[in-house]
Amino acid sequence: MKIFISQLSKQYGKVRALEDVSLHIDGGMFGLLGPNGAGKTTLMRIITTLALPTSGKVSVGGIDVIRDPGAVRRQLGYLPQEFGFYKSLNAYEMLDYIAVMKNIPPHQRGTNVNRVLQAVNLHSVAQRKVGGFSGGMKQRLGIAQALLGDPQLLVVDEPTAGLDPEERIRFRNLLARLSRERTVLLSTHIVADVEASCTGMAVLDKGKLVFSGSPQELSRLAMGRVWQIDLHPDEWERIESHYSILSSRSQNGRLQVRLLADHNPLGRGDLVEAGVEDGYMTVIRGLQPDKQVVTQAIDA
Ligand SMILES: Nc1ncnc2c1ncn2[C@@H]1O[C@H](COP(=O)(O)OP(=O)(O)O)[C@@H](O)[C@H]1O
Ligand SMILES: [Mg+2]
Repeated sequence: MKIFISQLSKQYGKVRALEDVSLHIDGGMFGLLGPNGAGKTTLMRIITTLALPTSGKVSVGGIDVIRDPGAVRRQLGYLPQEFGFYKSLNAYEMLDYIAVMKNIPPHQRGTNVNRVLQAVNLHSVAQRKVGGFSGGMKQRLGIAQALLGDPQLLVVDEPTAGLDPEERIRFRNLLARLSRERTVLLSTHIVADVEASCTGMAVLDKGKLVFSGSPQELSRLAMGRVWQIDLHPDEWERIESHYSILSSRSQNGRLQVRLLADHNPLGRGDLVEAGVEDGYMTVIRGLQPDKQVVTQAIDA
């Protein structure tokens, strides 16, 4: 299911949560990446018809979200960033209740609830109280409720925040599996979530779209600009004030630093391979090549 977003803006009082965002989402698993406050939730709330834009257009599967929100809602499942669980119900009862809310006919409810429990691998704990579920199980239950009614679009807002590394990987794999049969739109501030499982992606920063393409294309933006250099501790301040530091670690009294630069820092850096995280830092810090923001070279 394709999503078309055209010149979308959203203003909350003086805050511009989204500014002139245009984006095409083709299907599969699509990642929306950006720091806190970037506008990810705002964009998802507009796509899911829960909020109206200040200006601009969005269509989901050819249906306009402003003109025909009811038709869009019938096609989508949504897991909000803050999802309330009914702690004293068991997983089956909670899904059955949500199925009633979604107007799924009584004779189809049992089949539907069992199908989504299977899909997220929670059928064996269907009779357990939701209050005792781990973070990963709660998020899978959140996906199960979004899958009720078999929507063609699944919108999931920062579902991996708060999960431990193993739960996060399992959860990502679940979404990737679900995306074979429907479009999955996932928001996150964790680069690895997108790198591992998304075919298409976009980066939002302060309400603006700063990148759209594949994870490989994002890492290519940093190609030829990621350097590794060994520093004497005295050199740190000079380097830090001139360059965008990606990471550093101390080793035998010296500092090994990875940084972004258009020139060889101090004339003795080594060019290293760029990853998606490096590309992300490049666009977030405004160092795209086409913007001509050139970091100054320091002479050795
Ligand atoms: N209901 C609201 N009222 C006022 N400001 C809001 C509201 N929702 C979001 N914002 C502001 O809009 C900006 C984008 O927020 P949000 O879409 O939640 O970003 P993200 O999900 O990427 O963290 C932030 O500055 C936030 O404070
Ligand atoms: Mg958010």
